[in-house]
Amino acid sequence: MNIAVFASGFGSNLQAIIDAVKSKKIKANLKLVVSDIPSCYALKRAKKAKVQTLVQLAKDFADRQSYDKEIVRQLRKRKIDLVVLAGFMRILSPYFVKAYKNRIINIHPALLPSFKGSYGVRDAFQHGVKVTGPTVHFVDEKMDHGPIILQEPVPVKENDTEETLAQRIHDAEHRIYPLAVKLFVEGRLKVVGRKVKIG
Ligand code: GRF
Repeated sequence: MNIAVFASGFGSNLQAIIDAVKSKKIKANLKLVVSDIPSCYALKRAKKAKVQTLVQLAKDFADRQSYDKEIVRQLRKRKIDLVVLAGFMRILSPYFVKAYKNRIINIHPALLPSFKGSYGVRDAFQHGVKVTGPTVHFVDEKMDHGPIILQEPVPVKENDTEETLAQRIHDAEHRIYPLAVKLFVEGRLKVVGRKVKIG
């Protein structure tokens, strides 16, 4: 099975997946890292791990669909089976979602369906929740919405700041994201309506 990871930023989740593939916890090929930000640290991690990279700039395309059409073409060319979004800061078009239906997963730093959007950690913290934590889910046409694969609760401590909380959420992400990829690769995830059955 061939995996592509999409990232726009620091790439710590990408790193967790690189490590899990290296140690053979995930038995698949990490074939490609895709980014829209040429200077992002995630690309440095990919290069260090000798994973092929593809940088595609938004400004080179007229609209989201033409951007995504080219990406899908690139993915098919490399026979990618699974798309792993790891801090990729673009919304996928319905075209892309349809082309890779139930084969795109995302990680969100809050317990969905609460605190969707770009500021999941901050919004949960400011709301005063006592428990938050990451969610791995399949991607559908709506943002942060598809069937949920895994979640890990992270209790908010009395003296937490947004930063200390974010760190523990990241630690939890690095546990559940490689695990979700492993379950997918082993064919153990079955989507039934809104639910994901783990076999
Ligand atoms: C993570 O917090 C993830 O939940 C969100 O983007 C962040 C990416 O972090 N989707 P990193 O680039 O993997 O360190």
